[in-house]
Amino acid sequence: MDAFIHGIPKAELHIHIEGALEPKLMFEIAEKNGCSLPFKSVADIRRAYKFEDLQSFLDIYYQGAQVLRDEDDFYRLTWTYLQKAAEQNVRHTELFFDPQTHTARGIKFETVVKGIHRALTDAGSQLNLSSKLIMCFLRHLSAANAMKTLEEALAFKEWITGVGLDSSERGFPPEKFTSVFDLAHQEGFKAVAHAGEEGPADYIWQALNLLKVERIDHGVRCVEDAALVEYLVKMQVPLTVCPLSNIKLGVFDHLSQHNIMQMLKLGLCVTVNSDDPAYFGGYLEENLRALHKALGIGSEDIYKLARNAFRASFLDPAQKKKYLDELDEFVSGFGH
Ligand code: ADE
Ligand code: ZN
Repeated sequence: MDAFIHGIPKAELHIHIEGALEPKLMFEIAEKNGCSLPFKSVADIRRAYKFEDLQSFLDIYYQGAQVLRDEDDFYRLTWTYLQKAAEQNVRHTELFFDPQTHTARGIKFETVVKGIHRALTDAGSQLNLSSKLIMCFLRHLSAANAMKTLEEALAFKEWITGVGLDSSERGFPPEKFTSVFDLAHQEGFKAVAHAGEEGPADYIWQALNLLKVERIDHGVRCVEDAALVEYLVKMQVPLTVCPLSNIKLGVFDHLSQHNIMQMLKLGLCVTVNSDDPAYFGGYLEENLRALHKALGIGSEDIYKLARNAFRASFLDPAQKKKYLDELDEFVSGFGH
C-alpha cells in the first residue's frame, strides 16, 4: 500500500503556502532578515505546535509568516513546498496564499505574488508539476479590506486563477463577503471558500448560494444537514477534506473517528489535502497513509480520491484528461 500511495499521480487542491513554512526554513529566513522568533530551536517550535482549535493554530501560523519579507523569501517557501510535492508524485497543485497577512505589515502585494509565481513557473519547467494560484481573503478582517485586496490583485489577474475565504470561521459567515465575491466573478476569477470546518452547515449553504463557489474547502460538517448532503451529492460539489488538519485542530478527536469514509459512501465528491503541512505533521502522502492506518482506506477509494481531485481542479478539460489517463495507466500497471 505504501508504494501505491507514493506512486499514484496526485492533485492537491487545499494547501496554504504560508502553512508549508517548515521550522528549519522559518529559522533560516528569520536569521537572514534579522527578525526575532519566540523560539530557540526547531524542537522548541515543534513543542509549541499543540493546538486546541482553529484560532489557537492561526495565532501561531500568522506569527510564523511574519519572517517572510522579500520576494526571494516567498520564492524559497513556495519552491520548497513544490519540490516536496513533486517527490510525492503530486502532478498538479492549487495553492492558497493570504496576501493580507503580508500587506498588513507593509509588504507589497507584488512582492508576495511575484515570488510565488516565479516558483510556480520554475516547477512547471523543472519539476513537471502544474499549478494554479488562489488568493484567499481573511474572513476575520472587513469586507472593505477584502475588496481593496481584490482591487490590488486585478493587475496580476493572469497569475491568479481564483479567490477563496479562510481564517477564523465561527462568527464570520460567508455572507459578509457577498459583494467581494460578486466583483471577483465579474472579473473572471474562480471561487472557493472554507466552510463547515468549525462552522455550521449553514455556512456551506451561504458559500454556495451567496458566494457562488465551485468547491468547498473542508466541508466535513455538511453531514449535519441531510438536504445539504443531497444537494452536494447531486451537484457533485467537490469538498477538499484535510484529515490530519482536522485532528490537529480538534474537529475530530482521533483519525479513527473522522467521517471521510462516511462521506465517500454517501457519494460526496471528496478529495484529500494537506492544508498546512508544516504545522499538521504531513503532506499529501502522509495524510493518505494515516487514513489507511486509522480507517483502513483501500486502493479503490484512494483511486477515487485522486480521480476526484483532478476532476475538481481548475485545469482545462484537455489537461484533466491527460492526468486522468496517467492516473488510469498507473492503476492498471499496479494490477487494479
Ligand atoms: N488558514 C490556514 N489554514 C486554515 C484552516 N485550516 N482554516 C481556516 N483558515 C486557514
Ligand atoms: Zn485551509
